[in-house]
Amino acid sequence: MLIVPQHTPKHVARPKVAVFASGSGSNFDSIAKHVQQGQLNIELACLVCNKPDAFVLQRAEAFDVPTVLLNHQDYPNREAHDRAIIEAIKAFGVEWIIMAGWMRIVSPLLIEAFEGRVLNIHPSLLPSFKGLRAVEQAWQAGVKITGCTVHFVVPEMDAGPIVGQAAVPVLEDDTLETLQHRIHSQEHLLYPRAIAQAIASFGARRET
Ligand code: GRF
Repeated sequence: MLIVPQHTPKHVARPKVAVFASGSGSNFDSIAKHVQQGQLNIELACLVCNKPDAFVLQRAEAFDVPTVLLNHQDYPNREAHDRAIIEAIKAFGVEWIIMAGWMRIVSPLLIEAFEGRVLNIHPSLLPSFKGLRAVEQAWQAGVKITGCTVHFVVPEMDAGPIVGQAAVPVLEDDTLETLQHRIHSQEHLLYPRAIAQAIASFGARRET
């Protein structure tokens, strides 16, 4: 069950977006396919990655999306890394940041530079099960319904205003792996719709 409010204002420009990812990038893949098929009205300006061996880099190349690889290990601290990211994405004219499997806490510096325009996806029904290994946390807690959440990023981890959620029931014969797989599939449907919604409401807020 996807829960994303559906009302799209008429005149919304095509904002330039940077996707931030550190791993496989199946969410990046889904977002890029939605853009390619005209189902998501954004421009994928670049992919930002902090892990040189992340598979998402290959996915971005396959979609002809420019990649920005900034390994956090090359910087003395979080702020220095974030400053380098801000400089790089501003050069691409980026207006929105979409975190999709970005395994780094960012400093307030980055959040403030893109205030109200940073989204993240988390594999639980927030505010339950914040932080790492969220699916495992839900599994161990024995919940019967879990899911995923798209939310705005604020300095506190996994705590910003919720844009949309998808509920996923825990089935009798589930294993942790099958549950993880079904949540991931829901993320691929939820995120493109939630991005569209967040951008549309931001545009609407600016028009009023
Ligand atoms: C997703 O489960 C997302 O919720 C979490 O990291 C995972 C990224 O998966 N933040 P992928 O790299 O997009 O396949």
